[in-house]
Amino acid sequence: MSHLIIQDLHKSFGDLRALQGVDMVVEKGEFFVLLGPSAAGKTTTLRMVCGIERADQGRVVFDGEDVTGAEVRGRDMAMVFQTFALYPHMTIFDNLAYPLRQSGMAKADVVQRVNEVAEMLRLGHTLARKPGTASGGEQQRVAIGRALVRRPSLLLLDEPLTNLDAKLRFDTRAEFKRLHRELGMTIVYATPDELEALSMGQRIALLRGGRIVQTGTPDELYTKPQDTYVAGMVGSPKVNLIPAIRRGADDAPLVEMPFGAVQNGPWADALKPFPVGSELIFGFRPHDVAPATDTGGDDGDGGGTMRIAAKVHLIEPLGDVVILDLTAGETQLKMVLPEEQAIRYSVGDDVPVNLRVENSFLFARETGTAIC
Ligand SMILES: Nc1ncnc2c1ncn2[C@@H]1O[C@H](COP(=O)(O)OP(=O)(O)OP(=O)(O)O)[C@@H](O)[C@H]1O
Ligand SMILES: [Mg+2]
Repeated sequence: MSHLIIQDLHKSFGDLRALQGVDMVVEKGEFFVLLGPSAAGKTTTLRMVCGIERADQGRVVFDGEDVTGAEVRGRDMAMVFQTFALYPHMTIFDNLAYPLRQSGMAKADVVQRVNEVAEMLRLGHTLARKPGTASGGEQQRVAIGRALVRRPSLLLLDEPLTNLDAKLRFDTRAEFKRLHRELGMTIVYATPDELEALSMGQRIALLRGGRIVQTGTPDELYTKPQDTYVAGMVGSPKVNLIPAIRRGADDAPLVEMPFGAVQNGPWADALKPFPVGSELIFGFRPHDVAPATDTGGDDGDGGGTMRIAAKVHLIEPLGDVVILDLTAGETQLKMVLPEEQAIRYSVGDDVPVNLRVENSFLFARETGTAIC
């Protein structure tokens, strides 16, 4: 039985349709990420799961029980809000103890539980102090600790790293993974940050405009994006998306781009029903482009690579890898190379490249939907 099932959730605020049919299934013990840009509906979805917002339509099923209209209290879940507020006049110990005291737990048990959580979150040295004297990262951990003390089986985290600086974000990401492993709880984690999503999520649901666009493992989203939006959200540097036209015979389609045509991609069969002249978008990862060697490349007719005559336009060093911005005629594309290989190239150089066609994507231009 799945731990959390969200079915066809709809929510409007006046004329604004915030959620337009959200479906999500989260398994017990999973680290599930809800990834989406601002205003996609992440917070609204989480608020409905924990019961502080009512759905217009749809169901929330938690541990096999329909909790759609149920009281907030008594649900074995906790939420860390995007903008959390600690009690400034209470010590950090009391902030952590508050939810336990509210539930009537015996004093000795409260002390023990708070100390456990404080140790896990490395807050031991702050317990006697007021939140105002703690660092931003420590305050964030107190907010998380307050959600953890009751040991909920489901933890909802709404952009919990937003207020932290880059270094602390990196450390806290690792911390969340460790907590998840040690506590074995189910986590639903909302973020607009694709790196956070890819580094922590066992599965990711991409939310846009109040709808889930695709759900899958990071690998599934990277290798089989179901539309241009997912292809663009997942992967760094961004996917290359090139306007193209369907050409060739009915049963032997060709994809024509400004710098050449390609056939026999993984999409070849699915492309057959599209009429000649259909507008397409051809996609490939910068990691699937490499400088051509004399033995490689056969213009894409069966050998799995396509040769492109390109020029170096810009070089962006990123430490151990380098992004080369190339131009092929009027078209811009990106290639990623290890530093030691990139060092050979300067701006303005001609660089023939090979593109690995077997890893390429094809989309219908009008809808952005994958052809596969
Ligand atoms: N109480 C409300 N009244 C009116 N509109 C609301 C309310 N709550 C949310 N909305 C609107 O619903 C949409 C979704 O909001 P939501 O807070 O769920 O987005 P989000 O994905 O969490 O964004 P962010 O990353 O910026 O936090 C937004 O357009 C928002 O303005
Ligand atoms: Mg939000």
